[in-house]
Amino acid sequence: MLVDRSNAGAAIEGFFAGEGLAERTRFVGGDFLSDDFGDGFDLALVGNLIHNLGEAGSRALLHRLGDRMAPGGRVAIKDIAVQDDRLAPTSAGRFAVSMAMFTDGGGVFPASEAAAWLADAGFAHESTTDLSRAPGSYLVVGRKR
Ligand SMILES: C[S@@+](CC[C@H](N)C(=O)[O-])C[C@H]1O[C@@H](n2cnc3c(N)ncnc32)[C@H](O)[C@@H]1O
Repeated sequence: MLVDRSNAGAAIEGFFAGEGLAERTRFVGGDFLSDDFGDGFDLALVGNLIHNLGEAGSRALLHRLGDRMAPGGRVAIKDIAVQDDRLAPTSAGRFAVSMAMFTDGGGVFPASEAAAWLADAGFAHESTTDLSRAPGSYLVVGRKR
């Protein structure tokens, strides 16, 4: 199941179809900060969302997931890597500027910060990985306590 705004449905379903995944995937349109999208999940991927949502929105989403995961369920946050001091790499700094211009509170957040938000939402830190197939990105995984 992939949740995004309803107007993203045609593009997402087209992508699934192009990858031969139409039978194994389901798009659910709505607002993941307010709509009911079910519960009892074993795994949720928060992919490229926290740079868009910013701290308040990301924390709200992670808390909603904390209430909806199955016991032991995992949340994986994939986003753009930046050092803890946010001074490098410069590409992340440039991206943060565009997020500041075009989103409400978005930016670039270090993996350590994403892990802290997960912990606050009830997830024990399981791993942080530099992604080789998405260079300049991290994957932080937390497990529902
Ligand atoms: C940077 S894109 C990432 C898209 C996709 N997850 C990916 O990794 O390619 C951010 C997405 O978040 C969606 N989005 C932002 N706020 C949302 C909300 N409150 N409810 C549902 N979708 C939202 C936008 O429509 C947009 O498609």
